[in-house]
Amino acid sequence: MRTLADHPLTIMGHDYQPVIIGGMGVDISSTQLACSAAEMGAIGHISDAMSPFVSDKNFGTNFTKRKSDRLRVYADSKDKKDVQFDLADLRSGQMKHVENAMNQKRGEGAIWINIMEKLTMNNPQGTLEVRLNAALDAGIDGITLSAGLHTSSLRLMANNPRFRDAQIGIIVSSDRALKLFLRSGSRVERLPDYIIVEGPLAGGHLGFGEDWPAHSLDTIVADVARLLKAENLSIPIIAAGGIFTGSDALRAVDHGASAIQVATRFTITEECGLPSNVKQEYLRSEEKDVVVNCVSPTGYLMRMLSYSPCLTSNMRPSCEAFGYMLGREGKCQYLDAYDATPLDEKGKKLLVKEKICLCYHFSKFNCYTCGHNVFRLKDTTTKNPDGSYKLLKAQDVIKDYLHNE
Ligand SMILES: Cc1cc2nc3c(=O)[nH]c(=O)nc-3n(C[C@H](O)[C@H](O)[C@H](O)COP(=O)(O)O)c2cc1C
Repeated sequence: MRTLADHPLTIMGHDYQPVIIGGMGVDISSTQLACSAAEMGAIGHISDAMSPFVSDKNFGTNFTKRKSDRLRVYADSKDKKDVQFDLADLRSGQMKHVENAMNQKRGEGAIWINIMEKLTMNNPQGTLEVRLNAALDAGIDGITLSAGLHTSSLRLMANNPRFRDAQIGIIVSSDRALKLFLRSGSRVERLPDYIIVEGPLAGGHLGFGEDWPAHSLDTIVADVARLLKAENLSIPIIAAGGIFTGSDALRAVDHGASAIQVATRFTITEECGLPSNVKQEYLRSEEKDVVVNCVSPTGYLMRMLSYSPCLTSNMRPSCEAFGYMLGREGKCQYLDAYDATPLDEKGKKLLVKEKICLCYHFSKFNCYTCGHNVFRLKDTTTKNPDGSYKLLKAQDVIKDYLHNE
């Protein structure tokens, strides 16, 4: 029987097990989860989403409080353009997060960090430059550029001594997006070392519009493989989005992929950073509960469970403490939606329906984002005597992809 384990992934001369655990913010793809993949010779992501906040939680720093204290004067102001991150603190939070992961890593696999361009932080280029370079300086094995076209990201790292040694890849959802990225790379003579092709069934934000059901992962993988062949480039393609079994993985390989990136199946592992009760919320889901909506202030569509607490909320924006979604000039679609939502007869804000405060709700794990196949998770485990579902070990899930159909 042919299995995924028969297809090792080679990047920059290193051989890996062809399973990558996808980046899941905020700290859902935890260091522990990434380390369990690396220990087996596979690859795990940490996420750099809200890394100062993650550092506060994991290492007792106080970046969030310091920022909130410094910017308190803007709390009642609608104008958030001066609600800026301290770049030294941002670097420090990112370094701590990455160094901690790299210090704990054992085994022959790799740890990559997922860095989202859409985390604009009221200074898109300045904060992105800090996050990218801090990750390299802290010794990360690789950087996955995500949630955006990243046409300036390679240039922002070009002077870093590790720019040509660290593994750098990008997530795309079309061959067109890849073409733009390759063009930006040619300006600094840097090709990506891997390309993650994310299809429409993935968790998190989607790189598609409302016509997402018309797209298929297999077709996009084949399109990207054709483009690379036409350009005479040999770069491994990693397929992502809805890959639930070993045979799904082999189908992706048959369409031109060298490996798979998976996330949803790891949300119910012991090592995953979600709180235990939220893992059970994923496990109890039915197919009818899975929705794709446009409540994210990024403007991208996002898939989530319809009973996510973030969908019935009227949170006051807390940009002074967080502010990760603020665009240039301090704009965030949630700020506008909050302002436009009326008060009830007792003076209480009604539920904000249009958008969610991504910073607040991700910090509290209130947004149950998931891949389309989340409702199948219950079939991969058994129940405890108290009726709750048993959690799995991440390495067992990796083995299932590698050795079973
Ligand atoms: C809980 C969760 C959080 C995610 N967060 C992010 C993220 O912060 N950045 C990102 O680029 N992708 C994110 N993703 C997408 C995954 O990295 C991955 O590519 C995708 O979910 C793969 O599809 P699958 O979940 O069907 O296996 C997230 C996915 C899940 C399930």
